[in-house]
Amino acid sequence: MKIINKSTLGFVLTIAALSCLFTKTLLAWSTGPEAYRTGAPGDKGTCNDSGCHNSFSLNSGSAKFSITGPASYTPGKTIKLKVSFGGSSGKLHGFEMTAVDADNNHVGKFKAIGKITQVIKPNDYRGLKKEDKGTYIEHTLSGNKKKSWKVKWIAPANATGTVTFYAAGNDANGNGTYTGDYIYTTTLEISPSEE
Ligand code: HEM
Repeated sequence: MKIINKSTLGFVLTIAALSCLFTKTLLAWSTGPEAYRTGAPGDKGTCNDSGCHNSFSLNSGSAKFSITGPASYTPGKTIKLKVSFGGSSGKLHGFEMTAVDADNNHVGKFKAIGKITQVIKPNDYRGLKKEDKGTYIEHTLSGNKKKSWKVKWIAPANATGTVTFYAAGNDANGNGTYTGDYIYTTTLEISPSEE
């Protein structure tokens, strides 16, 4: 059996350690949580569930978490929404958002603006089902340094009725774990324009 010399062994171990670190960072929840965590009807829940950010009860923090946007949407057209924290003391922040119609079906497609948000893709470790493609948006690793995020939402051409946006947000202490963070939920209803 060929004996591996010390420097080769050192090199192999360094590569292994770096790839573990890279994978852990890549798969870390702080880079964007799993899908179905907005608190919307039919979702798994929010960020504030057992084994996750449940140091404090939901919406028990003093920050203001909100979704703002236009009063109405036009079927087939794009609107801009802003998800934001006000009066928060956290070092890091995150969010996840979806939109449902009056029957609680996912509706429309989200689009990220810049690199601080990402539309969750099906079939990665976040567990989004193929049929829900485009219906969930959340922060990215660089986005967890922000306290507010602007995103786009495209209303389906055949949209009718009021759409409700659901978001869960994390006002986090930056300790690199899921402890000591305040979780919030909020909603925004937008109706079709009277055109
Ligand atoms: C929309 C929901 C969620 C948001 C916005 C969110 C956001 C974040 C943020 C900003 C951090 C960094 C915290 C810090 O350093 O203080 C973090 C870390 C973490 N979160 Fe969440 N999270 C969510 C849901 C979840 C859920 C459901 C779980 C459990 C399944 C989870 C598990 C973790 C863990 C283990 C960490 C620490 C290490 C890491 O970065 O992976 N999170 N999350």
